[in-house]
Amino acid sequence: MGKIILTGDRPTGRLHVGHYVGSLRRRVELQNSGEYEKIYIMIADAQALTDNADNPEKVRQNIVEVALDYLSCGLDPAKSTIFIQSMVPELTELSFYYMNLVTVSRLQRNPTVKSEIQMRNFETSIPVGFFTYPISQAADITAFQATTVPVGEDQMPMIEQCREIVHKFNTVYGETLTMPDIMLPDNKACLRLPGTDGKAKMSKSLNNCIYLSDTEEEVKTKVMSMFTDPNHLKVSDPGQVEGNPVFIYLEAFSKPEHFEEFLPEYAGIEELEEHYKRGGLGDVKVKKFLNNVLQAELAPIRARRQEWEKNIPAVYEILKKGSEEAQQVAAQTLRDVRASMKINYFDDAALIKEQMEKYSK
Ligand code: TRP
Repeated sequence: MGKIILTGDRPTGRLHVGHYVGSLRRRVELQNSGEYEKIYIMIADAQALTDNADNPEKVRQNIVEVALDYLSCGLDPAKSTIFIQSMVPELTELSFYYMNLVTVSRLQRNPTVKSEIQMRNFETSIPVGFFTYPISQAADITAFQATTVPVGEDQMPMIEQCREIVHKFNTVYGETLTMPDIMLPDNKACLRLPGTDGKAKMSKSLNNCIYLSDTEEEVKTKVMSMFTDPNHLKVSDPGQVEGNPVFIYLEAFSKPEHFEEFLPEYAGIEELEEHYKRGGLGDVKVKKFLNNVLQAELAPIRARRQEWEKNIPAVYEILKKGSEEAQQVAAQTLRDVRASMKINYFDDAALIKEQMEKYSK
């Protein structure tokens, strides 16, 4: 059996450069590598509703934003199946059966759930749907028999939980589900890109994101006002590179050709970092370089987005086709699951015979 990818995003806002280096860029490479038999990219609207139940309009509005971001990054509907989670109702049925294989205390120990509960002050009033979303995420992955789940580091506990469910299901009901592997970004800076303010995470509410759909001007303004080393006051002062978002972004984005084009006096990132640490290299110069690098990377994405924005019905058509295809694949897995659990009563000739014999004595 070939390798199969499933991954996705919650449609709660436009995607930002953290999504890009953490996952999107890789997806496009994987898509074009030809190594995968199937690639499924899911817009996780049902999962987004687990903590936005009072605001379905937000989710509704952002589905097309995420789809536009996907297409503009180079995800190609001819090679990848892009679909909407709630359009595949089989996923909810799978979740319902998997719920019996997971304990409440195991969910409470899931680090992502734990920290999100704390972050959002859900402590005392967690919606059951939110609490159980790791189970629904396992349904997303297994419905497509995914072997490979390319995601950011923050999703590690979800994949771990999914693997446990697969193991439990296969042990209890017989080999049915495919054991998935997580695929993390290979560059350390890409694991978790900090916000422009230096905070650990980019988040819309913190207003510290650079969006893929930002204009050239917006990107420039954000880069030039980025947080750097607060102790690097004078150009001659030695500066710190670790934890300095400007350098983390450069590690995530810059390529040798960017140095050749925009900063030929440095051989590469190491030399630039050495100079900054030694002192004598000003923040403005580094930020201008970062701006050039980001503009070079984002310009083709922005241009493709503008093209797709002129044809919104085509974007919905892609999602509709993708959802229909995904639904058929998930339906097959659900048939396999029901057969393994022996709850496929009407396809089960042995069951009918057994009951008949019981009553014909
Ligand atoms: N939890 C993911 C996120 O917040 C989205 C998601 C839902 C997902 N189901 C998935 C990712 C299955 C990978 C596999 O971005």
